[in-house]
Amino acid sequence: MRKKITVIGAGHVGATLAQRIAEKELGNVVLLDIPESEGMPAGKALDILESGPVYGYDSRVLGTTEYPPTAHSDIVIITAGLPRKPGMSRDDLLNTNAKIVKSVSEQVAKHSPNAIVIVVSNPLDAMTYVAYHTTRFSKNKVIGMAGVLDSSRMAAFVAEALDVSVQDVQPMVMGGHGDTMVPITRYTTVAGVPVTELIPKEKLEGIVQRTRDGGAEIVKLLKTGSAYYAPSASVVAMVESILKDKKRIFPCAAYCEGEYDVKGLFLGVPVKLGANGIEQIIQLNLTKDERSSLQKSIDSVKELTESLKRLNII
Ligand code: NAI
Ligand code: 2OP
Repeated sequence: MRKKITVIGAGHVGATLAQRIAEKELGNVVLLDIPESEGMPAGKALDILESGPVYGYDSRVLGTTEYPPTAHSDIVIITAGLPRKPGMSRDDLLNTNAKIVKSVSEQVAKHSPNAIVIVVSNPLDAMTYVAYHTTRFSKNKVIGMAGVLDSSRMAAFVAEALDVSVQDVQPMVMGGHGDTMVPITRYTTVAGVPVTELIPKEKLEGIVQRTRDGGAEIVKLLKTGSAYYAPSASVVAMVESILKDKKRIFPCAAYCEGEYDVKGLFLGVPVKLGANGIEQIIQLNLTKDERSSLQKSIDSVKELTESLKRLNII
């Protein structure tokens, strides 16, 4: 039987994601948005469905503003919420998006109690915490998408600098999905060779900074809204690894209980993604400098997550 994948939020990320999932025939898709958007998710879904005969995919795609059609989804992806505008940080979205993600998560728990949930809404690490806290799903079944995107950006810049195939670049970006994220050059390799041996230090520092600023670079160019092609592609890679039980290793926001000395927080760490969601958190040995950069990121995620308490969200 086909898998059922619900995408909540039929905006830029959500609609592109629905299209990519259908094109890869990962399952049938339900695309949901708010009642005020009546017609919009149904229109986008129908448009994607009608592309099937041209592309040759049989995935069914349904748009809705109600939760009953999402019932018993295998995977639910939360993209609901505001994107940032130029000059805003992801953290500026906390207040509004926390309320949205909380109300969405209540509905997810009610209608799809066995689903694996992938959170996309920003600020990512804190929103994943909200989904985990609200659904009360087990920690392996609530996952935040950011590290795949940040790593893909880093890989694109490395491949461009060395004029090599992106397929031979293995990137690694850890930490929170914010200005303090930690691209780890020592664990970023090209055909197995650490990138530190291939790209001069100064140029590599430029790539690291461009990776950290990757989201802002696109926001500045678009002027309204934020990135959605690479984000939706990143979610698809995660969905595929889960549904096909591929057990790929990706950096994802995972609930840490002691790993990397983090307790009770979602943080970007390398994980094994399979049929059970997060099947393992991989512990990398970090140098003193890498550990200190990660600590700054942990502190920043901790501060944001704790502010959810002040807002009565958790
Ligand atoms: P968008 O504005 O195009 O779409 C958001 C959609 O969510 C809108 O259609 C809106 O009506 C809907 N929505 C709002 N409240 C809702 C609710 N309660 N239930 C269902 N739908 C609801 O924004 P876009 O570009 O799709 O981005 C969505 C979110 O994803 C933003 O918070 C953005 O910052 C985040 N994002 C995160 C990334 C990551 O790496 N984690 C990458 C890209 C975006
Ligand atoms: C990004 O990094 C908006 O967080 C999103 O593009």
